[in-house]
Amino acid sequence: LVVRMKRVAIFGSTGAIGRRTLEVIAHLQPGFRVTALVANRNVAEVARQARELKVRYAAVADERNLPELEQALRGTGIRALAGETGMNEIAASRDTDIVVMALAGTQGLSPTLVALEQRKRVAIATKEIIVAYGDFVMAQAKRSGAEILPIDSELSAIHQCLHGCERSEATRREATRREATRREVSRIILTASGGPFYRRRDLSRITVKQALNHPTWDMGRKITVDSATLMNKGLEAIETARYFGIEPNRIEVLIHPQSIVHSLVEFRDGSLLAQLALPDMRLPIQYALTYPQRLPRLVAETRLERLGPLTFSAPDLKRFPCLGLALKALRQGGVKPCVLNSANAVAVEAFLDGGLKFTQIPEVVAWALRRFEPEGALTLDELRLHESVARDLTLGRCRAMGRNHR
Ligand SMILES: NC(=O)c1ccc[n+]([C@@H]2O[C@H](COP(=O)([O-])OP(=O)(O)OC[C@H]3O[C@@H](n4cnc5c(N)ncnc54)[C@H](OP(=O)(O)O)[C@@H]3O)[C@@H](O)[C@H]2O)c1
Repeated sequence: LVVRMKRVAIFGSTGAIGRRTLEVIAHLQPGFRVTALVANRNVAEVARQARELKVRYAAVADERNLPELEQALRGTGIRALAGETGMNEIAASRDTDIVVMALAGTQGLSPTLVALEQRKRVAIATKEIIVAYGDFVMAQAKRSGAEILPIDSELSAIHQCLHGCERSEATRREATRREATRREVSRIILTASGGPFYRRRDLSRITVKQALNHPTWDMGRKITVDSATLMNKGLEAIETARYFGIEPNRIEVLIHPQSIVHSLVEFRDGSLLAQLALPDMRLPIQYALTYPQRLPRLVAETRLERLGPLTFSAPDLKRFPCLGLALKALRQGGVKPCVLNSANAVAVEAFLDGGLKFTQIPEVVAWALRRFEPEGALTLDELRLHESVARDLTLGRCRAMGRNHR
């Protein structure tokens, strides 16, 4: 058996997912090698990683940081790149087999599409790209026959329930798989930890520090706040619909505070399949890199007898309106998911900067959504324009609300 070394480009290498991807790749030696790294502003860290791993390319999404990156890499022979052009060059490079997309926000859309067009595997953590542009991303994967594997633990769980034991090329074919999923799956149940405030009655005085203290997962700041508002689960519902081609009314959410069952699939014969493991993102990252193979684990053993009871309950949409807003945007379709995503990103940033109260996040998102009609089929450029209009409108709204709040 000849196993070819897989060369990986990590977009977002300085973030929580990026750093864990580096750990997984170190564990998977000698089968995987990092060839390119992309960050945004943390030049010192991406340059340090690049020198240590002797990669071919290092890049910054924000072009203003290129001179600093070039300076930090002087004399190493590592090419410094920047912006969308630089990221696209990495995504298209012959030195890359797998692109791990873990940049915050939607800045990674273009390199994701380029990598798929070049028939490279994309292991995607950035749910915002699928939420806002999922139809385009999935269509590109279908056109070129490229594989796109989810890293989000819930989507990975669903993927594992549906395809985790398949070995043959034929059953991995996207068309066959989507058709079977539509025919045989009656419900997809996404689990949510509920975040740090699920048991709390009054959410009006939540501080940034409290919101960043997640009970079961250690993640970047934006997704941690999204988990606390339950917007994260709403984004995942949209991501699930887009990724698996499942109708919105077949997607449900359950609160499961222990974060052991990462999601479930119910089939039409009444069987429920679930994927279980201790909460550790290195497992879904490894699965997305090695699928369809299962390689030895890096994560701790899950001993169910040592865990307490596993509990499940229906979500409270009254106290956590973000989830309801996302589910409605999913049902309405068109530009709504893209607008929801864009407005939420701005509102969370404003909350993290102290310019908005926790409870104002859903107010701002609902306000932005009311400003847009769902609209029919749009081109990618039209959708990108809607995203930026939604961002500007929401910024203005946050500034106005922030003035009253401060
Ligand atoms: N963390 C998790 O457990 C988890 C689980 C599932 C899905 N995800 C998804 O994975 C993505 C990354 O999450 P994370 O927790 O790793 O986030 P994070 O720790 O905040 O890292 C974000 C990464 O993106 C870069 N970045 C930040 N702002 C950017 C911008 N405006 N444009 C381009 N790049 C930017 C950062 O670079 P600098 O360091 O240079 O600023 C960093 O490399 C998110 O979409 C999240 O929803 C995360």
